[in-house]
Amino acid sequence: MRILAIETSCDETAAAVIEAAGGALSPVFTVHSSIVHSQIDIHRPYGGVYPTLAKREHTQNIHPVIEATLEKSKFQTKDIDAIAVTVGPGLEPALWVGINTAQELAKKWGVPLIPANHMEGHLVSVLLKEQASVAFPAIGLLVSGGHTELIVMNGWGQYELIGRTRDDAAGEAFDKVARTLGLPYPGGPALSQLAAQRSHSTEQELTLPRPMLHSNDYDFSFSGLKTAVLYATWQHPELITDESLRVALAHEFESSVIEVLISKTKRALESYKAHTLLVGGGVVANTRLRKACEELSQTEGIALFLPHHEYTGDNAAMIAAAAYLAHERGYEHIPIQANGILSL
Ligand code: KG4
Ligand code: ZN
Repeated sequence: MRILAIETSCDETAAAVIEAAGGALSPVFTVHSSIVHSQIDIHRPYGGVYPTLAKREHTQNIHPVIEATLEKSKFQTKDIDAIAVTVGPGLEPALWVGINTAQELAKKWGVPLIPANHMEGHLVSVLLKEQASVAFPAIGLLVSGGHTELIVMNGWGQYELIGRTRDDAAGEAFDKVARTLGLPYPGGPALSQLAAQRSHSTEQELTLPRPMLHSNDYDFSFSGLKTAVLYATWQHPELITDESLRVALAHEFESSVIEVLISKTKRALESYKAHTLLVGGGVVANTRLRKACEELSQTEGIALFLPHHEYTGDNAAMIAAAAYLAHERGYEHIPIQANGILSL
């Protein structure tokens, strides 16, 4: 099945053409083309995504992005079997640009429209480069700018949400702490680059809390950690002005986030006797998190699936893959809800 997918849930206007086969039991994907047009430069002066600007930019770019994606795939409209679109979660004005465009095209081309869940996209993004079957039960860890979730997966499409953030998402905490340190939006990549400059010879006495590390559940909370960083910089302004202290602070913040994520994931893997760990979302671009996941999979003796770097952030290839799973579950003709939201 050849699917053209559209993703406009946040600040990336994305389209992709993929081939999907294998059914819901062992899906296999081939990405023919995937284009992501980022709006980061436009939102940077505001320090975050500005929804009305995002809508304007998506509206301007959606058709050129779709045309370029089709051209790159070397297919024509008659070769496309279905159109997929992200219906949520995401910024509503941004989502609607994609949904309206997808509806128009599906009608014009006479093909079905498949609604896809953005978070299921991040989960299945691990299979876009790797043709392997996943042994279930599996634990899914989703770490993005808007979500931090632990999911028990008993198969593709069979998900139970067991933990989520009670306040800020992991990526959001990275972005906010980066802002405190005067780093540009989005702060995750900049903050992790800063943290990577730490050398072991300049060990600093600096400790931040590990929020909810020992709580008897799978929930997360990163807002207190962000506030701890803010207070520390008020009490010790040199944490912002002294370069080696800045590096130490960034490193300790990163250590705290990763330690909590890994510890809860470890407990979930053991409690649910999982065979596999899947990790998805923008924060998986983080080198130390990837390494920590690899170490965890080794000590637990389980299989690990991480998305290829190209597919950690928002993209439409993962949306096409999620749509294929939805299609295989018989969701082809479900109407898109008025608020566009289909939560996991
Ligand atoms: O999945 P994503 O692209 O968008 C959402 O669906 O939210 O995730 C974006 C988030 C941002 O908060 C960004 O700062 C974070 O992922 N991120 C990182 C890194 N690269 C991106 N966080 C930590 N380290 C990174 N290297
Ligand atoms: Zn995302």
